[in-house]
Amino acid sequence: MDSTRAWRQFLQTVTSSGITHVPSVQLPKPVTVKPTQTKKSSSHAAGPRAGKTVLRSPIELERDQAKEPVKQDATAEILNGPADTPQQKADLLCQLSEVVAGCQRCTELAGTRTQTVFGVGSADAQIMFVGEAPGADEDRVGEPFVGRAGQLLDRIIEACQLRREDLYICNILRCRPPGNRNPLPQEAANCREYLDAQIQLVKPEYIVCWGTVAAQNLLGEKRTIGRLRGIFHRHQTAKVLCTYHPSYLLRNPSAKKDVWDDMKILMKDLGIEPS
Ligand code: URA
Ligand code: URA
Repeated sequence: MDSTRAWRQFLQTVTSSGITHVPSVQLPKPVTVKPTQTKKSSSHAAGPRAGKTVLRSPIELERDQAKEPVKQDATAEILNGPADTPQQKADLLCQLSEVVAGCQRCTELAGTRTQTVFGVGSADAQIMFVGEAPGADEDRVGEPFVGRAGQLLDRIIEACQLRREDLYICNILRCRPPGNRNPLPQEAANCREYLDAQIQLVKPEYIVCWGTVAAQNLLGEKRTIGRLRGIFHRHQTAKVLCTYHPSYLLRNPSAKKDVWDDMKILMKDLGIEPS
Protein backbone atom coordinates (compact mmCIF):
# COMPACT_ATOMS: atom_id res chain seq x y z
CA MET A 1 0.00 0.00 0.00
CA ASP A 2 1.44 3.38 -0.89
CA SER A 3 1.94 5.93 1.84
CA THR A 4 -0.83 8.30 0.74
CA ARG A 5 -3.39 5.51 0.92
CA ALA A 6 -2.08 4.47 4.28
CA TRP A 7 -2.49 8.05 5.55
CA ARG A 8 -5.98 8.27 4.14
CA GLN A 9 -6.98 5.06 5.90
CA PHE A 10 -5.47 6.31 9.14
CA LEU A 11 -7.26 9.64 8.86
CA GLN A 12 -10.54 7.93 8.06
CA THR A 13 -10.19 5.83 11.19
CA VAL A 14 -9.68 9.02 13.14
CA THR A 15 -12.67 10.73 11.53
CA SER A 16 -14.90 7.79 12.35
CA SER A 17 -14.52 8.98 15.91
CA GLY A 18 -16.07 12.30 14.91
CA ILE A 19 -12.92 14.38 14.42
CA THR A 20 -13.07 16.23 11.13
CA HIS A 21 -9.51 17.41 10.94
CA VAL A 22 -6.21 16.41 12.45
CA PRO A 23 -4.37 19.71 12.48
CA SER A 24 -0.72 18.92 13.02
CA VAL A 25 -0.49 15.91 10.75
CA GLN A 26 1.53 16.82 7.71
CA LEU A 27 0.71 14.59 4.82
CA PRO A 28 3.31 13.71 2.28
CA LYS A 29 3.17 16.29 -0.46
CA PRO A 30 1.94 14.91 -3.74
CA VAL A 31 4.80 14.93 -6.16
CA THR A 32 4.11 16.19 -9.65
CA VAL A 33 6.08 14.19 -12.11
CA LYS A 34 5.85 15.01 -15.77
CA PRO A 35 5.38 11.96 -17.91
CA THR A 36 8.66 11.12 -19.58
CA GLN A 37 8.72 12.04 -23.21
CA THR A 38 8.48 9.14 -25.54
CA LYS A 39 11.37 9.42 -27.87
CA LYS A 40 10.38 9.74 -31.47
CA SER A 41 11.82 6.80 -33.23
CA SER A 42 14.56 7.95 -35.51
CA SER A 43 16.11 5.56 -37.91
CA HIS A 44 19.18 4.82 -35.85
CA ALA A 45 17.24 4.53 -32.58
CA ALA A 46 14.57 2.34 -34.06
CA GLY A 47 14.80 -1.01 -32.40
CA PRO A 48 12.56 -3.99 -32.85
CA ARG A 49 9.57 -2.08 -31.32
CA ALA A 50 9.68 0.99 -33.55
CA GLY A 51 6.36 1.81 -35.19
CA LYS A 52 4.51 -1.02 -33.47
CA THR A 53 1.91 -1.03 -30.71
CA VAL A 54 3.73 -2.32 -27.72
CA LEU A 55 2.03 -4.22 -24.94
CA ARG A 56 3.20 -2.90 -21.59
CA SER A 57 4.12 -5.34 -18.88
CA PRO A 58 2.31 -4.92 -15.52
CA ILE A 59 5.53 -3.60 -14.03
CA GLU A 60 5.88 -1.01 -16.78
CA LEU A 61 2.20 -0.02 -16.41
CA GLU A 62 2.65 0.51 -12.69
CA ARG A 63 5.72 2.62 -13.38
CA ASP A 64 3.79 4.73 -15.91
CA GLN A 65 0.91 5.28 -13.47
CA ALA A 66 3.33 6.52 -10.84
CA LYS A 67 4.51 9.12 -13.34
CA GLU A 68 1.02 10.50 -14.01
CA PRO A 69 0.78 14.18 -13.08
CA VAL A 70 -1.34 15.03 -10.02
CA LYS A 71 -4.93 15.57 -11.04
CA GLN A 72 -6.03 19.20 -11.16
CA ASP A 73 -9.65 18.31 -10.42
CA ALA A 74 -9.07 16.56 -7.11
CA THR A 75 -11.61 18.81 -5.37
CA ALA A 76 -14.31 18.09 -7.94
CA GLU A 77 -13.68 14.39 -7.54
CA ILE A 78 -14.09 14.64 -3.77
CA LEU A 79 -17.31 16.62 -4.19
CA ASN A 80 -18.68 13.78 -6.28
CA GLY A 81 -18.52 11.50 -3.25
CA PRO A 82 -21.59 10.76 -1.12
CA ALA A 83 -22.29 13.54 1.40
CA ASP A 84 -25.64 12.51 2.86
CA THR A 85 -24.66 11.72 6.42
CA PRO A 86 -22.49 13.73 8.84
CA GLN A 87 -19.93 10.92 8.74
CA GLN A 88 -19.74 11.03 4.96
CA LYS A 89 -19.35 14.81 5.05
CA ALA A 90 -16.56 14.45 7.62
CA ASP A 91 -14.81 11.86 5.45
CA LEU A 92 -14.95 14.10 2.38
CA LEU A 93 -13.72 17.11 4.35
CA CYS A 94 -10.86 14.96 5.56
CA GLN A 95 -9.96 14.02 2.00
CA LEU A 96 -10.15 17.66 0.96
CA SER A 97 -7.83 18.64 3.82
CA GLU A 98 -5.26 16.23 2.36
CA VAL A 99 -5.50 17.93 -1.02
CA VAL A 100 -5.13 21.33 0.64
CA ALA A 101 -2.09 20.13 2.64
CA GLY A 102 -0.27 19.58 -0.65
CA CYS A 103 -1.51 22.75 -2.38
CA GLN A 104 1.20 24.75 -4.15
CA ARG A 105 -0.98 27.31 -5.95
CA CYS A 106 0.37 30.31 -4.06
CA THR A 107 4.11 29.84 -4.40
CA GLU A 108 5.03 32.35 -1.71
CA LEU A 109 2.54 31.04 0.87
CA ALA A 110 3.37 27.40 0.16
CA GLY A 111 7.03 28.25 0.64
CA THR A 112 6.62 30.10 3.93
CA ARG A 113 3.84 28.20 5.75
CA THR A 114 4.54 25.75 8.55
CA GLN A 115 1.39 23.90 7.59
CA THR A 116 -1.97 24.57 5.99
CA VAL A 117 -4.88 25.55 8.25
CA PHE A 118 -7.85 23.80 6.73
CA GLY A 119 -10.76 24.28 9.12
CA VAL A 120 -12.21 22.66 12.22
CA GLY A 121 -15.49 21.76 13.77
CA SER A 122 -18.63 19.87 13.01
CA ALA A 123 -19.00 18.66 9.42
CA ASP A 124 -22.75 19.08 9.94
CA ALA A 125 -22.67 22.52 11.55
CA GLN A 126 -25.67 24.81 11.30
CA ILE A 127 -23.33 27.81 11.52
CA MET A 128 -20.03 28.38 9.72
CA PHE A 129 -17.55 31.05 10.74
CA VAL A 130 -15.25 32.46 8.08
CA GLY A 131 -12.19 34.49 9.07
CA GLU A 132 -9.42 36.05 7.04
CA ALA A 133 -6.29 33.92 7.13
CA PRO A 134 -4.16 32.02 9.62
CA GLY A 135 -1.81 34.10 11.77
CA ALA A 136 1.41 32.96 13.41
CA ASP A 137 -0.34 30.92 16.12
CA GLU A 138 -2.67 29.21 13.65
CA ASP A 139 0.24 28.45 11.33
CA ARG A 140 2.04 26.79 14.25
CA VAL A 141 -0.96 24.84 15.59
CA GLY A 142 -2.78 24.07 12.33
CA GLU A 143 -6.19 25.28 13.55
CA PRO A 144 -8.05 28.51 12.84
CA PHE A 145 -8.55 31.12 15.57
CA VAL A 146 -6.31 29.77 18.32
CA GLY A 147 -4.36 32.99 19.04
CA ARG A 148 -5.46 36.18 20.79
CA ALA A 149 -8.22 36.90 18.30
CA GLY A 150 -9.37 33.30 18.72
CA GLN A 151 -9.60 33.67 22.47
CA LEU A 152 -11.84 36.69 22.01
CA LEU A 153 -13.87 34.74 19.47
CA ASP A 154 -14.30 31.96 22.06
CA ARG A 155 -15.77 34.49 24.49
CA ILE A 156 -18.16 35.73 21.81
CA ILE A 157 -19.21 32.13 21.04
CA GLU A 158 -19.87 31.54 24.72
CA ALA A 159 -21.84 34.77 25.08
CA CYS A 160 -24.05 33.59 22.21
CA GLN A 161 -24.69 30.35 24.15
CA LEU A 162 -23.04 28.40 21.36
CA ARG A 163 -20.24 25.84 21.58
CA ARG A 164 -17.16 25.82 19.35
CA GLU A 165 -17.83 22.17 18.46
CA ASP A 166 -21.28 23.09 17.09
CA LEU A 167 -19.64 25.38 14.54
CA TYR A 168 -17.45 24.89 11.53
CA ILE A 169 -14.61 27.43 11.44
CA CYS A 170 -12.36 28.25 8.50
CA ASN A 171 -10.81 31.19 6.68
CA ILE A 172 -10.63 32.83 3.27
CA LEU A 173 -7.00 31.58 3.06
CA ARG A 174 -5.60 28.26 4.26
CA CYS A 175 -2.03 29.51 4.52
CA ARG A 176 -0.52 32.27 6.61
CA PRO A 177 0.46 35.37 4.64
CA PRO A 178 4.01 36.33 5.71
CA GLY A 179 4.03 39.08 8.33
CA ASN A 180 0.22 38.76 8.52
CA ARG A 181 -0.25 40.98 5.48
CA ASN A 182 -3.69 41.03 3.87
CA PRO A 183 -4.44 38.21 1.45
CA LEU A 184 -3.76 39.19 -2.16
CA PRO A 185 -6.73 38.94 -4.52
CA GLN A 186 -4.98 36.15 -6.44
CA GLU A 187 -4.40 34.20 -3.21
CA ALA A 188 -8.07 34.52 -2.26
CA ALA A 189 -9.00 33.40 -5.77
CA ASN A 190 -6.64 30.41 -5.58
CA CYS A 191 -8.12 29.31 -2.25
CA ARG A 192 -11.74 29.94 -3.19
CA GLU A 193 -12.26 26.45 -4.56
CA TYR A 194 -11.52 24.99 -1.12
CA LEU A 195 -13.79 27.44 0.70
CA ASP A 196 -16.60 26.74 -1.76
CA ALA A 197 -16.11 23.00 -1.30
CA GLN A 198 -16.19 23.34 2.49
CA ILE A 199 -19.42 25.35 2.23
CA GLN A 200 -20.90 22.81 -0.18
CA LEU A 201 -20.06 19.90 2.12
CA VAL A 202 -21.05 21.44 5.46
CA LYS A 203 -24.04 23.22 3.89
CA PRO A 204 -24.48 25.61 6.83
CA GLU A 205 -27.70 27.52 7.35
CA TYR A 206 -25.75 30.55 8.57
CA ILE A 207 -22.33 31.96 7.71
CA VAL A 208 -20.70 34.61 9.86
CA CYS A 209 -17.96 36.58 8.07
CA TRP A 210 -15.48 38.05 10.54
CA GLY A 211 -13.99 41.27 9.18
CA THR A 212 -13.65 43.06 5.86
CA VAL A 213 -11.59 40.41 4.07
CA ALA A 214 -14.03 37.60 4.85
CA ALA A 215 -17.13 39.67 4.08
CA GLN A 216 -15.89 41.23 0.84
CA ASN A 217 -14.41 38.01 -0.50
CA LEU A 218 -17.26 35.69 0.33
CA LEU A 219 -19.95 38.03 -0.97
CA GLY A 220 -17.94 39.56 -3.83
CA GLU A 221 -18.62 42.98 -2.29
CA LYS A 222 -16.63 46.19 -2.28
CA ARG A 223 -18.54 47.87 0.52
CA THR A 224 -16.81 48.24 3.88
CA ILE A 225 -17.61 46.03 6.84
CA GLY A 226 -19.30 49.02 8.48
CA ARG A 227 -21.79 49.03 5.60
CA LEU A 228 -22.15 45.27 5.29
CA ARG A 229 -22.77 44.50 8.96
CA GLY A 230 -26.11 44.59 10.72
CA ILE A 231 -28.27 42.72 8.22
CA PHE A 232 -28.48 39.26 6.71
CA HIS A 233 -27.06 38.76 3.24
CA ARG A 234 -27.40 35.56 1.29
CA HIS A 235 -24.82 33.19 -0.15
CA GLN A 236 -26.45 30.27 -1.95
CA THR A 237 -28.78 28.78 0.67
CA ALA A 238 -27.01 30.34 3.66
CA LYS A 239 -27.95 33.50 5.53
CA VAL A 240 -24.78 35.55 5.88
CA LEU A 241 -24.01 37.93 8.69
CA CYS A 242 -20.92 40.13 8.52
CA THR A 243 -19.33 41.73 11.53
CA TYR A 244 -16.05 43.22 12.76
CA HIS A 245 -13.01 40.96 13.07
CA PRO A 246 -12.01 39.98 16.63
CA SER A 247 -8.50 41.41 15.95
CA TYR A 248 -10.17 44.73 15.16
CA LEU A 249 -12.06 44.49 18.45
CA LEU A 250 -8.78 44.01 20.31
CA ARG A 251 -7.60 47.35 18.89
CA ASN A 252 -11.02 49.06 19.03
CA PRO A 253 -12.95 47.73 22.03
CA SER A 254 -15.72 50.27 21.45
CA ALA A 255 -16.80 48.25 18.38
CA LYS A 256 -17.72 45.32 20.65
CA LYS A 257 -21.19 46.78 21.05
CA ASP A 258 -21.75 46.56 17.28
CA VAL A 259 -20.56 42.94 17.20
CA TRP A 260 -22.89 42.14 20.07
CA ASP A 261 -25.76 43.77 18.15
CA ASP A 262 -24.86 41.57 15.15
CA MET A 263 -24.73 38.46 17.33
CA LYS A 264 -28.17 39.29 18.68
CA ILE A 265 -29.48 39.30 15.09
CA LEU A 266 -28.04 35.81 14.67
CA MET A 267 -29.35 34.55 18.01
CA LYS A 268 -32.83 35.93 17.37
CA ASP A 269 -32.98 34.08 14.06
CA LEU A 270 -31.73 30.92 15.78
CA GLY A 271 -34.44 31.31 18.43
CA ILE A 272 -31.91 31.84 21.22
CA GLU A 273 -32.95 34.28 23.92
CA PRO A 274 -30.02 36.65 24.72
CA SER A 275 -29.10 36.35 28.43
N1 URA B 1 -7.52 35.60 12.21
C1 URA B 1 -8.25 35.04 11.24
O1 URA B 1 -8.89 35.70 10.45
N2 URA B 1 -8.27 33.74 11.16
C2 URA B 1 -7.61 32.96 12.01
O2 URA B 1 -7.69 31.76 11.85
C3 URA B 1 -6.87 33.57 13.02
C4 URA B 1 -6.83 34.89 13.10
N1 URA C 1 -11.09 46.37 9.12
C1 URA C 1 -11.03 45.04 9.02
O1 URA C 1 -10.27 44.48 8.27
N2 URA C 1 -11.84 44.30 9.77
C2 URA C 1 -12.69 44.85 10.63
O2 URA C 1 -13.40 44.10 11.28
C3 URA C 1 -12.76 46.25 10.72
C4 URA C 1 -11.95 46.99 9.96
